Amino acid sequence: MSDKVSRRQFAKIAGLSAAGMANPVGAVEVNPAPPPRAGTGFPAGFVWGTATSSYQVEGAVNEDGRGASIWDKFVRIPGKIEDGTTGDRANEHYHRYKEDIALIKELGCKAYRFSVAWPRVFPDGDGKPNPKGLDFYNRLVDELLKNGIEPWLTLYHWDLPQSLQDRFGGWRSTETCKIFGDYAAYVAEHLTDRVKNVFTLNESGRFVYFGYGIGIDAPGLTLPQAELNQIRHNSALAHGLAVQAVRAHGRHGTRVGPAENIDACAPAIDTPENVRAAEIALREMNGGYLNVIMTGQYTDAFLKFAGPNAPKYIDAELKIISSPVDFLGLNIYAPQNYVVASDQGAGFMPLPIPKSFPHMNSDWLRVGPETIYWVPKLAAKIWKTDAIYISENGTSGDDVVRPDGKIYDTDRIMYLRNYLAQLQRATSEGVPVRGYFLWSLMDNFEWVYGLNKRFGLYHVNFDTQVRTPKLSASFYRNVIATNAAGV
Ligand code: NOJ
Repeated sequence: MSDKVSRRQFAKIAGLSAAGMANPVGAVEVNPAPPPRAGTGFPAGFVWGTATSSYQVEGAVNEDGRGASIWDKFVRIPGKIEDGTTGDRANEHYHRYKEDIALIKELGCKAYRFSVAWPRVFPDGDGKPNPKGLDFYNRLVDELLKNGIEPWLTLYHWDLPQSLQDRFGGWRSTETCKIFGDYAAYVAEHLTDRVKNVFTLNESGRFVYFGYGIGIDAPGLTLPQAELNQIRHNSALAHGLAVQAVRAHGRHGTRVGPAENIDACAPAIDTPENVRAAEIALREMNGGYLNVIMTGQYTDAFLKFAGPNAPKYIDAELKIISSPVDFLGLNIYAPQNYVVASDQGAGFMPLPIPKSFPHMNSDWLRVGPETIYWVPKLAAKIWKTDAIYISENGTSGDDVVRPDGKIYDTDRIMYLRNYLAQLQRATSEGVPVRGYFLWSLMDNFEWVYGLNKRFGLYHVNFDTQVRTPKLSASFYRNVIATNAAGV
């Protein structure tokens, strides 16, 4: 395809009418939405959304009384962030949130998942709240509702107040868990008159291991396995305390659940034995967090494997950890383990992943669309939940801006089309997936990669802060308008 494509041709390529192209944010109109192909539809009322997180988009790190987070400190350690950038400015979403909500609206999304920056609301983590911090989220929530978009709030997306790291060692201490419970209570009390759905912690699986195990996320520590297991246990305890706080201080009917990067297991070949093996694998590989949250117990195999490194706890903690949730939020990007049945060990064998396994523009982002079919299906069976939300799915891409100013991210569309087709396969079989949040609304600060990895439906020029819809924005808009997989 030539780089020089006219606006009319662009609309044609997108499979869309050129007529309605001009709109306030420049996204391509779907005009009118075509009927979905037979057999590709999602259930009525399926929640279509996008997601971001506070540190990755807000910027304004020193404004209106926000305290420092562990990420503010971590990004300043030389060599930690690949391109040397920080979230100081990021997407300036703190000031541009109205413009960004208009982008969400353009997509036709009915829901938006964002996170509250704990140190904006409590600069030191505990103690005196900062009213200006909460005010930002009041404004954000009001603007979303004004635009017909449901706010889905995450309490913790990794920006721990630095003060808690300094005073208690962060998640190494149960003090931090208790303080997190108080913070959750405060947020629930002030926002659940309008926010009906709350995620507790985002990706314990990542922030514990990357932050405290291999030092590539904040706070950048490399602790031994026993401590990691304890920290993971503490994160589960924090989750449970937050669930209880939302129940006690939120409006009646507020729903709450985790948003976890579940260790994604799928059968290597679809046979009854391998499917059973994948089910066992899913439970065991998630034994340190999701399984204990959902069942109140560490499995025998988990404890045996951990041996002397097993977490220490009292039974009352398991009760808190397993406080009943209203839904399971799963971040699903890539297959972690393809498994086959085995007569050894717990009954499954994870297979090595060949070097030549295809991946997207991030090395870790292997392309395994069937993961988003198997994982919710097996999770619903193991943990007997009737509401699963895909709290994140999406991909980075190189997203070159062509001379015509457009971004033809057919790689992202390929990825999304395949994953959504498999998700539709799951819902059509009655797997209780109720919604999907695409990561991400717009390019943003991608942690260790800085601004180098772009996950957005909207391209962001970080010098000018101009947002430009990629071709995938039109694709997703069409998916939402038709409530179908876009295959
Ligand atoms: C999961 C994390 O929750 C999010 O912060 C991150 O940007 C995406 N994955 C992509 O890596």
